[in-house]
Amino acid sequence: FYKKDLNGKTVLVSAGPTVEPIDPVRFISNHSSGKMGYAVAAAAEKRGARVILVSGPVNLDAPAGVECVSVGSCDQMYDAMFDHLDQADIIVKVAAVGDFKPVSTQAHKIKKSGEQGHMTLELTQNKDILKAIGLKKRKNQYLVGFAAETRDLETYATGKMEKKHLDMIAANIVGKSGSGFKADTNKVKLFTRDGHVTDLPLMPKEAVAHAILDAVVQAIS
Ligand code: PMT
Repeated sequence: FYKKDLNGKTVLVSAGPTVEPIDPVRFISNHSSGKMGYAVAAAAEKRGARVILVSGPVNLDAPAGVECVSVGSCDQMYDAMFDHLDQADIIVKVAAVGDFKPVSTQAHKIKKSGEQGHMTLELTQNKDILKAIGLKKRKNQYLVGFAAETRDLETYATGKMEKKHLDMIAANIVGKSGSGFKADTNKVKLFTRDGHVTDLPLMPKEAVAHAILDAVVQAIS
């Protein structure tokens, strides 16, 4: 039994990694499995929301009742998020977006060359999707970001909340087992723009998702 406290709301979620092609066989990506984002999407649907899930490539089934949009690169995720942004009451940006992409994608497989045994790949910065949404969002849209940190969780997370104009940030330590990428559990600390801090215990990502939605519902009601 789930409380239907998101009835009538549209929740836009992004999940999974982005993938930046180098050539037809190689890419730059990260360790995101999509589990955290899919848990948020599934939890919101169970609580009565219409849910749109923009997802990078993952090995997970779409949660029941959720509208899925599949993307690859950061640019594709940016377009998909902005295509659906107007309809959203709540946006939760869980995706692990690559901060850099190759300056150009080669049309053919890059061959080994030279005697040195090394090559240089030139990268350029990707768009910051969350920051762009933060600048564009309406006052009545509630924006939640995630922060993946390896140290100084609170300082970096609250810094990102400010810089990206977020209403809430869910901060998790990555690079430790049982939390962050790939695990079925996560250890998250929530910070809201108006100063609330909730230190959640290590728990299944499904429970973390509901705790985040509890905090969102509390903030918007
Ligand atoms: O998918 P799992 O395996 O379950 O792992 C979950 C997770 C560790 C990926 C998730 O809990 C998490 O921390 N997601 C955010 C990952 C991330 O990109 O963090 P960041 O601190 O680099 O970025 C901060 C925020 O800005 C994020 O909401 C991110 O979506 C967003 N961002 C970042 C860069 C960029 N170019 N565009 C963005 O929108």
